[in-house]
Amino acid sequence: MFLWIVLVLCVLFLYKYWYLKTRIPSKFPPGPIGLPVVGCYDILSGPNLNASFARLHQKYGSVFSVNLGPSDRFVIIGDHDILVESFKDMSLTTRPEIIQWFNVYSRYGDGHTARGLMFSEGDEWLEQRRVTLRHLRDFGFGKTGMEALILNEIQELLEVMETEIGTDVRFKGKFNSSIINVLWTIMTGRRCSLNDPKMQEVIHAVDEVVSQSNPTALVNIFPPSRHVIPGLSGFTAIMIPIRRMIAFIQDTLNDHQASHDPNAEPRDFIDAHLNKIHESESNPSSSFHGQIGLQNLEVSMLDLFFAGVETTSNVLSFSVLYMVNFPDIQEKMFQEIKAKIGLYRLPSMNDRPDTPYTEAVIQEILRYSAIAALGIFRVSSRDVQLGPYQIPKGTTVFSNLLAVLRDPKIFPDPEKFDPTRFLDKDGNFQKNEKNIAFGTGKRDCLGKSLALAEFYIFFAALIQKFEFLPPSSGEIPDLEPDTTFIRQAPDFMASFKRRQL
Ligand code: HEM
Repeated sequence: MFLWIVLVLCVLFLYKYWYLKTRIPSKFPPGPIGLPVVGCYDILSGPNLNASFARLHQKYGSVFSVNLGPSDRFVIIGDHDILVESFKDMSLTTRPEIIQWFNVYSRYGDGHTARGLMFSEGDEWLEQRRVTLRHLRDFGFGKTGMEALILNEIQELLEVMETEIGTDVRFKGKFNSSIINVLWTIMTGRRCSLNDPKMQEVIHAVDEVVSQSNPTALVNIFPPSRHVIPGLSGFTAIMIPIRRMIAFIQDTLNDHQASHDPNAEPRDFIDAHLNKIHESESNPSSSFHGQIGLQNLEVSMLDLFFAGVETTSNVLSFSVLYMVNFPDIQEKMFQEIKAKIGLYRLPSMNDRPDTPYTEAVIQEILRYSAIAALGIFRVSSRDVQLGPYQIPKGTTVFSNLLAVLRDPKIFPDPEKFDPTRFLDKDGNFQKNEKNIAFGTGKRDCLGKSLALAEFYIFFAALIQKFEFLPPSSGEIPDLEPDTTFIRQAPDFMASFKRRQL
């Protein structure tokens, strides 16, 4: 009898727990009722999170809610106007605590917030973001000397590719070394040889982190699992490359500090940050003050590597994939470059206004690849209105950028790869502000200008020099991306030949 009572009480307790977890408050975005403990069946049964979200978007509308595993309900926004309106506000600039546990191991986090750019909050985030933007601009493509160093990078890539003409080449990850080196040059003022073993280790670490960053890995759905089964939960696999990256950054910072002169003109991004730390010695409220300032510099470098390398190099791999699939578009772009830039010098930022078709192809690649399909999670720091819905303080929110970039009301025939959607009737480039591949609002992509500059120069140089073709088998590579947390170009082969001068 006693056992029966205990059993009934347990069932009632579980029912109550499930009811509270899955209950949808009034005015909250609609969505499926999740299963106890494991969460929503639609998510579990989908091939990946993006596909499941697309199905739920069809069923429940452009703003819906769902619970992933034992989590509280998340809200997913796939409506452009609601996203832009709600992300304008500071109340959706915070990162949720459910991902902050991770930063205790890598970003001097305390479980609620962390140092650096991607997971910091409030005044610390605002100050770090503002100063980093300034230093990226000062030492990025805008700076004459720096542009020359970066053009060297492209030159070296083209020379390596010369040796591969006519062979089948794997394009996944092909541009990682060059893109990491651009960032490296901006940060340290020096290029690193593409074959440098330390640099190879960093490239490898960045790759590993991205391929291990699966939002449905047990450790992401149920973080405490890392204490019990660190290997099986996916925790160990992601920590090893991150620790390697941190060690590399710390070594570099130590070297740089040893030769830094706070009274001299900064040589690079790190120097400019060290100067700011020096200036903030008497201002304990600054996020650049003392030890916290140094921690912020280290973590910001880590964040820039993670956010800035795989994204840009992935978009370049997608570019080759699309050019092989759409040869007419490739030819048209080449003819424009030949006519406006010529074939005897590398493209530069100044050529952008003269090459509207190239700009349109770039915008269409960003839209079509939608690499950061779900942005980076946010949490509401107070009650927020989302169109007709309301979410309380503490609700985790995903921006469903993929849904916006595939919205037929904004981009007619969205499954078609068509750069002309970014041209007016006279062939002039026509920007569409709704192409939000870099996110939107106060916390959108910090590296957007740098990414666009790198993308333009690398892509235009590649098309100027080579014609991209299917591999020797003649089989045209499939367009379907690999999806983990971001959408990655699939592992495809292509070949290329030199353009005739
Ligand atoms: C094609 C390339 C890129 C794409 C499509 C892209 C896209 C995005 C997106 C969608 C976000 C999330 C915004 C949100 O939370 O709503 C983001 C954040 C971020 N991106 Fe990018 N990104 C790219 C390249 C870069 C580059 C080159 C850098 C820097 C070197 C960079 C640095 C960052 C940082 C630091 C954040 C976090 C910003 C913050 O939390 O304040 N990204 N990016």
